[in-house]
Amino acid sequence: MSTTVITGANRGIGLELVRQCIQRGDKVIAGCRNPDEAQELRGLEPANLLAIDVGDEESVRSFSQAIDEQVALLINNAGTSITNLGFQREDVGVMDAPVDLTLDMIRINGLSAATVTRSLSGRFDSGSQVVNITSQIGSMVVGANFNDLPYATSKAVMNMVTVQLATQLKDKGVSVVAFHPGWVRTDMGGSSADISVEESASGILATLKTFPHEDTGAFLRWDGSVHPW
Ligand SMILES: NC(=O)c1ccc[n+]([C@@H]2O[C@H](COP(=O)([O-])OP(=O)(O)OC[C@H]3O[C@@H](n4cnc5c(N)ncnc54)[C@H](OP(=O)(O)O)[C@@H]3O)[C@@H](O)[C@H]2O)c1
Repeated sequence: MSTTVITGANRGIGLELVRQCIQRGDKVIAGCRNPDEAQELRGLEPANLLAIDVGDEESVRSFSQAIDEQVALLINNAGTSITNLGFQREDVGVMDAPVDLTLDMIRINGLSAATVTRSLSGRFDSGSQVVNITSQIGSMVVGANFNDLPYATSKAVMNMVTVQLATQLKDKGVSVVAFHPGWVRTDMGGSSADISVEESASGILATLKTFPHEDTGAFLRWDGSVHPW
């Protein structure tokens, strides 16, 4: 039974990834900020449910130290938006965005992919995969027209983390992939978004099944198509 680790597992895309990974037979270690409040996640009966705040290095360390087995798949899914941090879109354009907010967002949405991955890197074998759930907004071409500096820069950072991790882990046989999950109906995506969590998660997992290691460092959409940087 192979072990899959998923962050931000208590709701949205993360919760559905947990559901589908358990359904297909993975041993899932689920990470979320408040395990005691994660009733829906508990109901799925993951093998382990651990606390992690991905923006807090000490929390990332404790989370990783509690994992004492080899990890076949790590999904860095946890992420936040400006509304979660108490701001409105009109306050966060490139002409207005508070620097501290932008740095907080980069820490949570971008750098966490590096801190979580490197703290688990001793648990990877040749053939392990690391998935960073980024956003099309982190691409230079799409982000140029999306006037939310904190979110766009945070996902651009995640994209850079993806390609640098891919280079560092390539010779170990570990693949690293960034996925735009689609515009997905979750608390973050809103109810009028394009696709369901089921469609997003199943597309990502199906793409990973046949993902060739030589393509490590790719930026893909949930359906496996290549996303421009
Ligand atoms: N939905 C979309 O259309 C869309 C599009 C592009 C990219 N994405 C990306 O997809 C990922 C999942 O998004 P979603 O739509 O499922 O959003 P969501 O429903 O808002 O869920 C976000 C998840 O991330 C967790 N999280 C937030 N900050 C965290 C932190 N500091 N430490 C640990 N966990 C944290 C949340 O936990 P709490 O319950 O504790 O807050 C929650 O489990 C995110 O990275 C997001 O940026 C989503």
